[in-house]
Amino acid sequence: MIENENQNLWSASFESIVNQRRSVRKFHPEDYDPAAVTESLRRAQLAPNSSNMQLWEFYRVSDSSSLKAMGEACLGQNTAMTAREMVVVVVRPDLWRQRAQANYDHVKNVHGDRPSFRGQSALDYYGKLMPLLYNNDVLGIRGFFKKMYVTFLGLKRPMVRQVTGTDVRIVVHKSAALAAQTFMLSMVAEGHDTCPVEGFDSVRVKKILQLPSRAEINMVITCGKRIPEGIYGDRFRVPSEWVVK
Ligand SMILES: Cc1cc2nc3c(=O)[nH]c(=O)nc-3n(C[C@H](O)[C@H](O)[C@H](O)COP(=O)(O)O)c2cc1C
Repeated sequence: MIENENQNLWSASFESIVNQRRSVRKFHPEDYDPAAVTESLRRAQLAPNSSNMQLWEFYRVSDSSSLKAMGEACLGQNTAMTAREMVVVVVRPDLWRQRAQANYDHVKNVHGDRPSFRGQSALDYYGKLMPLLYNNDVLGIRGFFKKMYVTFLGLKRPMVRQVTGTDVRIVVHKSAALAAQTFMLSMVAEGHDTCPVEGFDSVRVKKILQLPSRAEINMVITCGKRIPEGIYGDRFRVPSEWVVK
């Protein structure tokens, strides 16, 4: 339970951070502290994520030749060409075995050799259910049969329907985007700015980062400190009534 006084402080701080965060398209050429990224990446890893599988990676790009290559791969956009550093948020559905095992071992550590009902459920979750969800073939044959199975079960009771390889890709991208947003809000708290970028050539970005074929780029985040011309105008949002139902 947060004390009332702290509650007001937290609310005011969060309001300021949300208002201050803007997509910045031109960064200051000198003023920059990479420690802000270190701290914000630590916080990003605390973001909620599906089944705690943490199928994400964060690549820091800061040397000038890689920044230049990345700027070009980001289609020469101003935000990319002036960034002091970039963080590339990558999803790694191919690492599901490693991450499921890490969770399994963690549960085993916490619950010991004679786990409670909850402990055993968690072990089954990482030992049986996660392999069922994440082990998909390129042709999507397993996914097809899984989909048929849950559709059948779903006739009788509520079922999770998102079980195919494509569904899993969406799952990992959702979690990565939450980490990206946590990172960007934290950068504001550290007195810095960012811009999320999806206008990039994913083939070239993967080549620059030497990523394996099954890795996917979730987002490139440019980092630095804003200059006034870096904000392209006042914020515009459609009316709340259109989106809050
Ligand atoms: C997934 C995603 C991709 C984006 N890609 C780009 C981009 O390639 N280039 C760019 O300048 N801004 C990009 N943006 C920033 C949006 O244009 C911006 O968030 C939106 O206009 C709202 O402005 P604000 O962030 O300042 O509130 C992207 C934002 C998101 C969430």
